[in-house]
Amino acid sequence: MWKGRFSKPTADLVQRYGESVSYDWRLFRQDIAGSIAHARAQLKAGLLNREEFDAIESGLKDILKDIEEGNFTWSRELEDVHMNIESELTRRIGAPGAKLHTARSRNDQVATDTRLYCRTEIDEILEKVEKSGISGVLLFGIPAHKDERGSQAYAPGGITQRAVRWIKAHYPGLVCIVDVCLCEYTSHGHCGLVQGDCILNDETLPLLCQMSVSLARAGADMIAPSDMMDGHVAAIREALDESGFAQIPIMAYSAKFASAYYGPFREAAHSAPGFGDRKSYQMDPANGKEAIREIETDIEEGADIVMVKPALAYLDVLKEASLTFRLPLAVYNVSGEYAMVKAAAANGWIDERKIVTENLTAMKRAGAKIIITYHALDMAAWLEEEAAGK
Ligand code: PBG
Ligand code: ZN
Repeated sequence: MWKGRFSKPTADLVQRYGESVSYDWRLFRQDIAGSIAHARAQLKAGLLNREEFDAIESGLKDILKDIEEGNFTWSRELEDVHMNIESELTRRIGAPGAKLHTARSRNDQVATDTRLYCRTEIDEILEKVEKSGISGVLLFGIPAHKDERGSQAYAPGGITQRAVRWIKAHYPGLVCIVDVCLCEYTSHGHCGLVQGDCILNDETLPLLCQMSVSLARAGADMIAPSDMMDGHVAAIREALDESGFAQIPIMAYSAKFASAYYGPFREAAHSAPGFGDRKSYQMDPANGKEAIREIETDIEEGADIVMVKPALAYLDVLKEASLTFRLPLAVYNVSGEYAMVKAAAANGWIDERKIVTENLTAMKRAGAKIIITYHALDMAAWLEEEAAGK
C-alpha cells in the first residue's frame, strides 16, 4: 500500500545529490528554478495571470534568498524539499502559490497511479484507509540515499522505521506490515548483497535480520520478507525471538515468481536491478511444483502466513497451496496487474468496478485469505456502496 514515486523533480535531485546535501542550497535553487519555469508555462497557457506569476516569481526568489542566508529551517526529509518550498510559498503569498502547488502535484501523478507518498502526504491516505475498514497496510520505504549494502534498510532512524512509528502513533488500529528486502535500499537494486555478478545469500541474512528487528522495535505488527534468500524465514524468526519479539508474525513471500508484472513497482521505487535480473533468487514461472516446495520450506522455517505472488497468472498455484497447507494464505495482486486494469479502464475499454470485483473474487475463490492489492481503497468503497444497496 505504500505506493508510487517521488515527484519527478525531487527524484532527480535525490539521484543527483543524495541525502547528504539536504541542506545544500543548490538543491533548493534548482527546485525553485523548476517552480518558476512551471509557473511561466502556466502563465503561457493562461492558467495564471501576470500578477499571479509575478507574485510567485518574487515569492520564490525571496524564499531562496532566505535559504541562502540561512534564515530558514527545513524538515530533515529530503522528500519534502519540493513540498516545503511550495507550501511555504502558499503560506507567504496565498492563492497563487496554492494554484502552482496543486498544478505541480497533479502533473507529478503517473498514469498508473502507483505513486509514492512523501511524509507530508501520508496522512491523507492513511485517514482514508482507516475510515474505509481496510485492516492494515503493507509498507515499502524508499530512502533518499541508497548504497551497496542497503544501510538505510536497517538504520534505526531510516525512513521506513520512522514511517512505522508515525503510523503506530497516529493510527494504532491499522495493522502495520512491513516488506523486508534490500532492493529498495541498495544502489544496485538487488534484493541481497552483491559480489561481482553473484548474490551473496548467507551474507545477506544478517542484514535482513537486523532490518526485521529494527522494524519490530519501531512497532511493526508483522514482518513480510520478500527477498527470496534461502533460509531467510528461519533466520528472521530466530532474530525476532532473541530480541523479544516472539509474538511478531512472519508473512513470507514464499511463492514469488520472477515476473514482468513488477515493472511499475520497480519504476516507482527506482529498484530495478542495475545489472542482470532476479532469476537466481525468484522463481521460474514454469515451475508449479517448486512453488509448493518453497511454501513448505517457509512453513517449516516458521512462517505464519505464506504468500503467492503475482496473483492472476498464478491462481493455480494459489489453489494448490490452499488445498495442501493449513496456514492462512495471502496473495499479492501486484503493480503490473493493477496498471493493466487502470489503463484499460482509463481508455473506456472495460468496466473497472466489475473487472476488479471479478479479479478479486477469483483470488478469494482460489483460496486467498488475505489479498494485498492497490485496488483496496476503491474496493472498500464499492463494497460499502453495495451494502447500502447502490
Ligand atoms: C521487493 C518487492 C517487489 C515487489 C514487492 N516487494 C519488487 C520485486 O521483487 O522486484 C513487487 C510489488 C508489485 O509489483 O506491486 N522485493
Ligand atoms: Zn527485493
